[in-house]
Amino acid sequence: MAEILLGVTGGIAAYKSLDVLRMLQRHGHGVSVVMTHTAERFVGAASFAALSRREVGTTMFGDDDQPGYHHLDVNDGMDLMLVAPASANSIAQMASGMATNLLTSCYLAFRGPVVVAPAMNTSMWLHPATQRNIESLRAFGVHIIEPESGLLADGATGPGRLAEPTVIVDAVESVLRGVSHHGDLAGKQVLISAGGTREPIDAVRFVGNRSSGRMAWALAAAAHDRGAEVTVVQANVDLPREQGITYLDAPTAAEMREVCRAQFPGTDMLIMCAAVADYRPVDQRAGKLDKSAADSLTVQMERTTDILAELSALRDEQVLVGFAAEHGPEGLERARAKRVRKAVDMVVHNDAAVDGAAFEGPDNIITIIGPGDAELALPRMRKRQCADAILDAVLPLVSGGAPVTA
Ligand code: C5P
Repeated sequence: MAEILLGVTGGIAAYKSLDVLRMLQRHGHGVSVVMTHTAERFVGAASFAALSRREVGTTMFGDDDQPGYHHLDVNDGMDLMLVAPASANSIAQMASGMATNLLTSCYLAFRGPVVVAPAMNTSMWLHPATQRNIESLRAFGVHIIEPESGLLADGATGPGRLAEPTVIVDAVESVLRGVSHHGDLAGKQVLISAGGTREPIDAVRFVGNRSSGRMAWALAAAAHDRGAEVTVVQANVDLPREQGITYLDAPTAAEMREVCRAQFPGTDMLIMCAAVADYRPVDQRAGKLDKSAADSLTVQMERTTDILAELSALRDEQVLVGFAAEHGPEGLERARAKRVRKAVDMVVHNDAAVDGAAFEGPDNIITIIGPGDAELALPRMRKRQCADAILDAVLPLVSGGAPVTA
């Protein structure tokens, strides 16, 4: 059970922090609260004091100008800092390293993991200054819980609403799990392929797929948090990059094959999460096809090389994990067969036909097939939680156990 420092900043969503506090306590955590003065205008410190049964920090100085509640004392013994809701102003201060109040001073002095749940109106959220500040926080390693879209306090509808307390608490749990796993992949080289390849038809058109790269990004973050040296081979992913992870670009199946092959010998584990095209146009036409030249277009496609199967045949000690995004109820059987056919240690199955699973969204519903006869069907979870479950399952193989093939 952890000690959590809950930072509350000014915004109508501050009242939801009371729920967050109670949920964290129900999970067995101790919670101490620091608030900005603006937050106090929305919810009184007395409410947080009553629920936390602890003194609430609101100011750097007492009435007599003596340091009343020192930020270093506040941070002492805390395992994680959560800022929820985080206003545009507090995010800007944190991103620029300003420490003008107790909360931002605590943040600047905090050495553990930090989770930030922004909440503000849509215009403030979408402003380039806020987006840039969020990117800065991400680059510092802060975990951002994206605000949700919905009806906001000002009557407008759009992104900016504080994520639900359950989502916030889930994210905190998953970060804490990452910390408790800290170091269990230390010194390991992990290669993760991400995104969806695009196979050119002509200079501007391509055959592609819906993969966003979110699952691979979550795996990369989880492996990085556990101390691995992570290299991501990415195809057309438009997501923020994390400091400390190496990214290599491979937009087509052929380039992905080339980069993966080059990286493979020095790798301890390959997680092939990318949706690699199975077919590509035989010829890429020069320039842009002129549609007035013909009423129909036939593009002849040829099979691409199955990178995972190829590397499996070449492997030395590497642990191999494949993904199987299948469609429909028979998909699980196909995924089991894929593990055997490609001779990999583990296949992660998800059903692209089920709402909440696979492409684009923040969640996934996975079944981990392998190692050996082991099979683990998991409920719908955030992709980061899925990532930790996958790494937990594969860990015994990476840390010395013999790879299990087929
Ligand atoms: O056979 P299927 O394409 O469904 O297998 C999916 C798995 O194989 C994924 O891990 C994917 O990254 C990998 N794959 C590959 N090379 C391809 C196609 C898929 O490595 N050309």
